[in-house]
Amino acid sequence: MPLRRTVHRLSQQRRSATTSLASAATSSPPDTARPTQGDDGGRPKDYIEAAVRQALVKAFGEAGAAAAPMVTAATKPEFGDYQCNAAMALAKPLNAKPRDIAQQLIDALEVADLCDPPDIAGPGFINLRLKPEYIQSRITAMLEDESRLAIAKTTAPQRIVVDFSSPNIAKEMHVGHLRSTIIGDTLCRVLEFQGHDVLRLNHVGDWGTQFGMLITYLKEEVPQALADGDGGEGSITAGEVDIGDLVEFYKKAKERFDGDASFKERSRAEVVRLQAGDPDVLRAWRLLCDLSRREFQVIYDILGVKLEERGESFYNSMLGGVIEELREGGLLQESEGAQVVFIEGAKNRDDSAQALIVQKTDGGYMYSTTDLAAVKQRATQERADRVLYVTDSGQASHFDQVFQVARRSGLAPPSLQLQHVPFGLVQGEDGKKFKTRSGDTVKLKDLLDEAVRIAAEDMEKRLAEEGRGMGEEERAVARKVGLGAVKYADLSMNRESNYRFSYAKMLSLQGNTAPYMMYAYARIQGIRRRATTSTPISTSDPPRIVLEHPAELTLARTLLRLPEVLTELERDLYPNRLCEYLFDLSQRFNQFYEGCPVNAAATDELRASRVALCSVTAATIKLSLGLLGIDVVEKL
Ligand code: ARG
Repeated sequence: MPLRRTVHRLSQQRRSATTSLASAATSSPPDTARPTQGDDGGRPKDYIEAAVRQALVKAFGEAGAAAAPMVTAATKPEFGDYQCNAAMALAKPLNAKPRDIAQQLIDALEVADLCDPPDIAGPGFINLRLKPEYIQSRITAMLEDESRLAIAKTTAPQRIVVDFSSPNIAKEMHVGHLRSTIIGDTLCRVLEFQGHDVLRLNHVGDWGTQFGMLITYLKEEVPQALADGDGGEGSITAGEVDIGDLVEFYKKAKERFDGDASFKERSRAEVVRLQAGDPDVLRAWRLLCDLSRREFQVIYDILGVKLEERGESFYNSMLGGVIEELREGGLLQESEGAQVVFIEGAKNRDDSAQALIVQKTDGGYMYSTTDLAAVKQRATQERADRVLYVTDSGQASHFDQVFQVARRSGLAPPSLQLQHVPFGLVQGEDGKKFKTRSGDTVKLKDLLDEAVRIAAEDMEKRLAEEGRGMGEEERAVARKVGLGAVKYADLSMNRESNYRFSYAKMLSLQGNTAPYMMYAYARIQGIRRRATTSTPISTSDPPRIVLEHPAELTLARTLLRLPEVLTELERDLYPNRLCEYLFDLSQRFNQFYEGCPVNAAATDELRASRVALCSVTAATIKLSLGLLGIDVVEKL
């Protein structure tokens, strides 16, 4: 039986082991299911983990079934590739010495197709080292599938909603939304690559009382924007009438609203008409949404991010039902005229009970009511297994509260995984609020343009030194470098930290930056080109992979680790791990290139093998950068 199915079967056994321990403990291991070398879907760690689970049950029955396999990457290369720390944790329940337990575990462990015979170190660590033949077979498989690197899709695909970007209509899309867009897009790309069914949702703020003021201002100050075209919805022609900068427009409307009592009154009346679905007011609302949408789209196009807009207004018709469900569930209480749900296990700073307001005194609904409705809609209509919310950490308590209420009320079934994916603030280089030199907020378009401009300037200088100028092609490259730099700088930071925005750092050719990684890629492509065009290689196809030099072996081992990094990213949602991996890979490549001549390799066979390692390295960088939303260039 191929290994992939074996792994699956092992994990099924594990499930049954926890339910009916006795039968699982006595059932014979799947002897017929000897794993076939190189057919583990490229996930040796998952395979080893499954084998350890099986060995635990076989060797220790019930106690083994209850134990965690505890397989991690080895902490030092001399310990091999992986280590299993399960023996230590079993010492107490089994009342035995960890080293003896480790030995029994090894005796039951069937990993011979992937690993050399395991050894025991220290108090009872089991060291596992991948066999060279296994590594060779993986490199060959990767070589033959440069786009996926022979990484199998998950055997347990999920429906995953990623709620990200989510700016607000008629307000500025700010650097926080940019972070959400960049991080959210990467998470989607990774989850899609893993084989999940991902729904990318833009939960734009397109509803609320602020529209009363905006619509009133629009009607009174720019009535021509609303003039009837040929009637009907299709005739909303935002843009033919320039209402100026929407953010400016918002500011001016707010000024009127704050300073003019009768304007305020008229605004309130417009909100009521909007909520009642008055066609004229809806037209005005749509116009405003359209104008904003166009501005947002400019940014998404520049970044190459795809999203489905499903704003807050989408959930309007479901809000009343949410309140009813909360009432029926006995969760709803009245507090100072508002409808609230009291939160368990958390207090306000003044020690009073925390309450999530779901309906205001005037009957209006809240941001949280919409989120509760969205949880239910995503669970039932979208059949989601997991929902991710990518916003700044300032919204952590909002999501804590919403998730708790969704669970207690049953709006979220227990099987649905709800996760807030928080990130820190974007700061200026001085650690203060991110602003332009004159103290204004930075427009995203300007921010991205500036990165591209600097990248082009740097490139022009470098080209001038070689007596060359910038052409169409070079400009396109500079654009990729500039945008890649902005994305990579954001993604390579631990997302929960605040992040200092620095053009100089992100565009530097040194350090863990996009230009550095893009350059590394282009350089390897150059090496490949030279090595294959100078003298044609006459050798077997695919070439036999030689891993004799320590640097060859280390590089190959590093190349095998990508699937693990992705599995971890899928679970923990930290894109910086992928950036760290890429940087590590580039160092390993440099060591390889220093120690192992490619073009001047002693034999054709060796040269072909080294070219193959170059190819797989390049493909790994390309794939990884692609998952970070960054395009590579063949020459830089
Ligand atoms: N529009 C919100 C903001 O700008 C973000 C929405 C996040 N998503 C959600 N389902 N609440 O802060």
